Amino acid sequence: MKLPFAEPYKIKSVETVQKSTLKQRTQWIKEAKYNLFNLKSSSVFIDLLTDSGTGAMSNNQWAAIMQGDESYAGSSSFFELKDRVKKIFGFEYFLPTHQGRAAENVLFSAMIKEGDIVPGNAHFDTTKGHIEFRKATAVDCTIDEASDTSSLHPFKGNIDLKKLEKVLKEYGKEKIPVIIITATCNTAGGQPVSLENITAVHKLAWDYEIPVIIDAARFAENAYFIKQREEKYKDFSIPEIVKKMFFNSDGMTMSAKKDGIVNIGGFIGLRNEELYRKATTFNIMFEGFINYGGMAGRDMAALAVGLNEVLDEQYLESRIRQVDYLGQKLISYGIPVQQPIGGHAVFVDATEFYKHIDINEFRAQILAIELYLESGVRGVEIGALLADRDPISRKNRFPKVEMLRLAIPRRVYTYNHMDYVAAALKNVFDRRHDIKNGYQIIQEAPIMRHFTLELRKI
Ligand code: F0G
Repeated sequence: MKLPFAEPYKIKSVETVQKSTLKQRTQWIKEAKYNLFNLKSSSVFIDLLTDSGTGAMSNNQWAAIMQGDESYAGSSSFFELKDRVKKIFGFEYFLPTHQGRAAENVLFSAMIKEGDIVPGNAHFDTTKGHIEFRKATAVDCTIDEASDTSSLHPFKGNIDLKKLEKVLKEYGKEKIPVIIITATCNTAGGQPVSLENITAVHKLAWDYEIPVIIDAARFAENAYFIKQREEKYKDFSIPEIVKKMFFNSDGMTMSAKKDGIVNIGGFIGLRNEELYRKATTFNIMFEGFINYGGMAGRDMAALAVGLNEVLDEQYLESRIRQVDYLGQKLISYGIPVQQPIGGHAVFVDATEFYKHIDINEFRAQILAIELYLESGVRGVEIGALLADRDPISRKNRFPKVEMLRLAIPRRVYTYNHMDYVAAALKNVFDRRHDIKNGYQIIQEAPIMRHFTLELRKI
C-alpha cells in the first residue's frame, strides 16, 4: 500500500478554543454591528479571518526568540536577517519594517506621487490604500480568467501583458513609477503567478524603463505552485525557483506574517542604492532605526528562521494540501469556489451562492455572517465592502465576483477542523434560499472601511 502524505511536524503545545451556542453567536454578531472584525476572538471557534500573523512558530523559532539581540543599533539579529534575505532573494539593500503595509508606506513614500499610475495584478487592499492615499491610481491588469471562478487556468494571478502594455504605452515612465506583482495574488484568490509571466512582465518593464517590485507576502507558496504547474521548473528546488522569481526585480515588499511564519514583521529588499537611501529616511521616520524598523531583535531572529522553514518543500506540500482538502470538500458539496484552489485560502463565490439577493446588500458579508452563526467559524468578506468606494465618484465598487475567504493559518488547524468548516458551509448552502435580505452600511471610514464599518440588517 502506498503510504499517504503526512505533516512533516508534530505538535508540542496546544491552545484551547471555545465552542458557543447559536443564541450566543446571534447576540455577539449583533453587538459587533455585523462586522466580523469586531468579534472577540473568544467568540470564535475556528478562526479563518486571516493567515496573517496567525501561524504557529516552530521550536527553532521559539529558540531564536531567546537569542534575539535587542540592541538599538547594530543588532546581530538584524545582520542575520539581512544576510538571509540576501541569500534567498538576492537583494543587497534591506530595511526591516513592523509589517507589510509599513513596507508599502515606506517604499511608496520614496516612489509614488500624486497623479501617478501603478499597474499590477489585483493589488491587495493595503497596497491599493497606500497608492490611493497618495492620490495615485492602481490599475488592475490581471488576466480575465481570474474573475471566472470555474476557469481552471493554473496561474490566475498572471498579469495580462496586453493590458499592461496598453497602460505602459499610454502613461510611460513619467507617470508610472513602479509595476507591482503580487505573488501569490491574494485578491484573485491566493492564485499564483507563473515564472513565465513574471519574466515577461520584467522584460516589458525593462523596455519602458520602469522598475518592478514584488509583493512577496506569499512568495514560497507561489514558488511551490510554479514547481507543480510549470513543466519547465518541475525539477528545480524551491529556493532555485524563488531566486528566479526575484532575479530581475528591482525590489520587494514583504509581510513576514504570511510566508515568514511569524506573528509580526515585514521588510523591504532593494537592488538600487539611491532608492534605498531615499526609503531609509522614511523608514527612520515611520518605523524606527534602520537596524530594527519596528521589530524587536527577537522578532527578526524568529523571522530569519521562518524564512528558511518556509522553503522546505515538505512543509509547503502539507500547507497547500490542507487548503486544497477543504476546497475539494466544498466542491464535492456543490458549493461554488474559486478554482483551482489557491495557496492560503479557499475563496467561496458569494455572488453565485446568493445570486437571488440584491447586489447592493453585500452578498459576501451575508455569507460570512451566516457561516459564523451556523458554526462559530470566522471567514472574511472579499467583496464590495472591501473594494471600498471609488475615490472620485464615491460610489460603491462591486468586484465581478464577491467572495468569502476562508484563510487557513499555517501549522495551526487539523483536518478535523477542515471537515467541521466544510460541513458548516454545506448547511449554510442548503438553506441559502431562506435568506432574502442582506445588510446596509450605517458607519464607515473614508478609506479601508471594511475593518471598522458598522452594518444594519435590512
Ligand atoms: N500584501 C498582501 C498580498 C497581503 O495579503 C497583505 C496582508 C499585505 C500586503 C499587508 O501586509 O498585513 O503585514 O500589513 N494581508 C492580510 C490578509 C492582512 O488577511 O490577507 P500586513
